[in-house]
Amino acid sequence: MCGIIACRAIEPAPGYLIAGLKRLEYRGYDSAGIAVTAADGTTAVFRTTSRVDSLTGLVDGWAGPLLAGTGIGHTRWATHGGVSEQNAHPHQDCEGRVSVVHNGILDNADRLRAELVHAGHRFSSEVDSEVICHLVEDRLLVSDDLLHAVSGAVAQLTGSWALVVLDARTGRMVAAAHRSPLLAARSTAGVFLASDISAIGDWVEEFHILADGDVIEVTNDLVWTHAGTPVAVPTAIPRPPRPTFSLTLEADDHMAAEILEQPEAATRLLEEVGGRIATGALWNDLGLPRFDRMRVVACGTSLNAGEVIGSALSRLGGLAHSSVVASEAAGSVVELGTLTVMMSQSGETADVLRALDESPEGFPVLALVNNVHSTLGRKVDAVLSCSAGPEIGVAATKTFVCQILVGTGLVISSLVASGRMDTAQARRLVNDLYLVPEQLAEAAAAARALLPPLVDEVRGAKGFLFLGRGAGVAYAAEGALKLKEITYRWAEAYPAGELKHGPLALVEQGTPVVVVDDGDPRLAGNIAEVRARGGRIITIGRAGSSIEVPLSLAAPCGPLAAVVPLQMLALGLAVELGFDADKPRNLAKSVTVD
Ligand code: F6R
Repeated sequence: MCGIIACRAIEPAPGYLIAGLKRLEYRGYDSAGIAVTAADGTTAVFRTTSRVDSLTGLVDGWAGPLLAGTGIGHTRWATHGGVSEQNAHPHQDCEGRVSVVHNGILDNADRLRAELVHAGHRFSSEVDSEVICHLVEDRLLVSDDLLHAVSGAVAQLTGSWALVVLDARTGRMVAAAHRSPLLAARSTAGVFLASDISAIGDWVEEFHILADGDVIEVTNDLVWTHAGTPVAVPTAIPRPPRPTFSLTLEADDHMAAEILEQPEAATRLLEEVGGRIATGALWNDLGLPRFDRMRVVACGTSLNAGEVIGSALSRLGGLAHSSVVASEAAGSVVELGTLTVMMSQSGETADVLRALDESPEGFPVLALVNNVHSTLGRKVDAVLSCSAGPEIGVAATKTFVCQILVGTGLVISSLVASGRMDTAQARRLVNDLYLVPEQLAEAAAAARALLPPLVDEVRGAKGFLFLGRGAGVAYAAEGALKLKEITYRWAEAYPAGELKHGPLALVEQGTPVVVVDDGDPRLAGNIAEVRARGGRIITIGRAGSSIEVPLSLAAPCGPLAAVVPLQMLALGLAVELGFDADKPRNLAKSVTVD
């Protein structure tokens, strides 16, 4: 996990580093820090366990030598070692000459640390990354060449890394990557490195991606090496256009804004892809072979969206689908004629990337991502964007809706292209998709009006159940996930029929049970079973529900509008309980470790 940034700029480095780190906070926010070269040949280090913003105060209070334009920065999601200033990056060697920021996990850190301690090195943190500082320190004693020293040090590592090393004595800066994203960019403002283009997109027009095993030196230009040999700088990729519709980073509550933006995001997406669904072009343009079954591989919210898309394929086309938790994908059997769809908002989720690496050869893989330039987007046979625009709140909301819309469109399009659905039926289904923005807006309005007293009523509940049937099950799962993530309350989702096979034992007087009611007649019995035990039923869906949302039983993506009140229930409760919904404890937006 974690986000890293570095610059060799004309202006003082702190401004760039802190602005970039704010955009990388989605990768972790347990602590943040920067190291900047100073006029006297030392490095000034600022670290905090508060939010990135507080680095500005620390830099403003700096009374030491003038800070220069070269520096490195890091925002952390704790893996090795607790959340403390000591464990915050940048880390340094024994003499304070070498400073390092690292994203990834070093599998052999314990052994290396033991060897380094035995050799006399003094460690000041519990973090695996610190071994890099001491390995480089050792190598600089033999040769003063930082590029050589870092190349040698990374050859001793196993695991994953995107790292930048700064040498205070020479002002040199070297970066390396292996199984963690890192990109480099040049512009008139300077040379920049970052985990993600969003961090440096304001200052550069194009960027280059480090491949596994690359080690580069950042001079006033880029010196690129691979396996110890100089190589050409890889082809530049144009920076994606800055979205004009995105939320400002200054907004108080991104999750609320992103929930309310869903109708607009859905409209934009349909404008982009809607005209290519019923013609089969959306599918044909991907250049993938015809398939007979679909296997979705994803995590969390993306997995829930994948379940909706897979069900649509089975319902509309009679084709089999399976959903596989990415971290458990290893060894799963892939039958002939299978299309694997890897779904990931970020395209950087380590579990998904590992599942891709471990997928059997010879089967087509399509990525459905929110960032086509992500690692996943670059590694697969074809890529489709859910085009939701930047999502800053850690809990996924608008990307879920957009994944479902474009994924369902893709399913319809592939069925037309393979002759399994006629165009007239496809057009009718596409018309249903065009109703979604309005349905989402209506659902938000209903939830706004009706949720406050419900939230008040359930604020003391320790646990929640979420139920649905058929296409509603995936939405119940998404409602439970949102609630867990941002309110820290237990929440379990079940197909409603499963209730009496165990979970009903959890229901006592007042237990909130949220039902996605898409009109399946069997739900009435399940609701009665809960009521008989004193459970507090909250229904979301068809007419007569606690919160009514527009639904059509035949809609290709099931009761999609129901997700809006589910998201708002979680958010309303989080706010009521005084939690920061945008940055829930222990989580990060992009989970880049497995
Ligand atoms: C839930 C949430 C996570 C992510 C999961 C996968 O609100 O945000 O469950 O859905 O970590 O992330 P991506 O989609 O980036 O692979």
